[in-house]
Amino acid sequence: MGNKLRIAVLFRPGRNVEWQRRYTGSEMPDDAIEEASLHRDALLEAGHEAELVQWQAGDPLETVAALRGMRAQLVFNTSSLAEVALLEALGIPYCGSGLDLVALDKAVRKKLWSCHGVNTAPFIAIGKDGATTGHAVPLSSIGPGWTPPPPLAFPLFVKPVRGRGSAGISDDSIVTDAVSLRRQAEAIVSRMDQGALVESYLQGREVTVGVIGDPPQALIPLEIEYNNARTNTFEHKMDNEIMHCPARLSAEQLEAVQDTAMRAFSAVGARDYGRVDTIVGEDGRAAVLEINTFAGLQILTGNERHLHASYIGTMARAMGLSRADVLGRIVDSARRRYAL
Ligand SMILES: Nc1ncnc2c1ncn2[C@@H]1O[C@H](COP(=O)(O)OP(=O)(O)O)[C@@H](O)[C@H]1O
Ligand SMILES: [Mg+2]
Repeated sequence: MGNKLRIAVLFRPGRNVEWQRRYTGSEMPDDAIEEASLHRDALLEAGHEAELVQWQAGDPLETVAALRGMRAQLVFNTSSLAEVALLEALGIPYCGSGLDLVALDKAVRKKLWSCHGVNTAPFIAIGKDGATTGHAVPLSSIGPGWTPPPPLAFPLFVKPVRGRGSAGISDDSIVTDAVSLRRQAEAIVSRMDQGALVESYLQGREVTVGVIGDPPQALIPLEIEYNNARTNTFEHKMDNEIMHCPARLSAEQLEAVQDTAMRAFSAVGARDYGRVDTIVGEDGRAAVLEINTFAGLQILTGNERHLHASYIGTMARAMGLSRADVLGRIVDSARRRYAL
């Protein structure tokens, strides 16, 4: 569709590992430039002009100068609220969801789904003492005799309210008593500078669904089988999980989880691409865990040093889509919005 666009591939060093580095205090390899390079190559293959632009955390104006210098017509790909906010302020078109969605934490997104009849587990949020807002309860209120407010009940799952890439998640995230809940929440609040989301621990098949394009299209659902863990942890996501695409579900269940993903995508106003993580229970019903507005899109070539396979890339391969097809569709969706 359409003619060639000049696209800036914006990347932010450390973006995929920064939270886990903070949580564990240990170093881990950064794959951001490898990921951005694959995006650039895919956009070139889709017939666009594309150049890498590095996000300068210390001085966003340098990023602005680079974008202006190359006269970027579109930015691909934002990876955090800061980039989205800057591009909105500058009026530079970009691919992906807008400030209104990107700014919302997982707890607020779950409230929106509840309003729209999208199935998601009940939850509470826990914040730092003296700094809780809205729905969050202070950490100090979780004492030894604490019991969860119904319908919540142990076992519970505890995770960062603004997490990504399974940062801060391990098998210890599944808690069966108030003492371990407090310990997990405290680690998140003190090391990750954000609140903890506490929800029912869901058992079933973990199934994730990519959604791309305009009108949005659900890709083939992918199942993540846990290999050496009880949840999909950070290490596990580094190509240690077993992926099944399509997920091992009946044809009706596959369609139902795609429908849930599409409704979750639309209910929060997601744009261009996203990935909805779910757990499908024994009854075949999917519960939405989260939506990833900055989902990984890479399809590996085999020459990568640190980069691991992305779930959307794996779905695309199973559907016979090339990297140029995937990124091209995302760009087409964005350019329609901006009439480029
Ligand atoms: N309520 C839950 N019950 C069971 N497992 C969960 C629950 N919430 C998260 N998980 C596990 O933790 C992983 C990461 O949680 P998720 O909400 O997807 O955050 P992230 O943004 O880090 O991917 C999931 O892929 C899943 O394995
Ligand atoms: Mg996830």
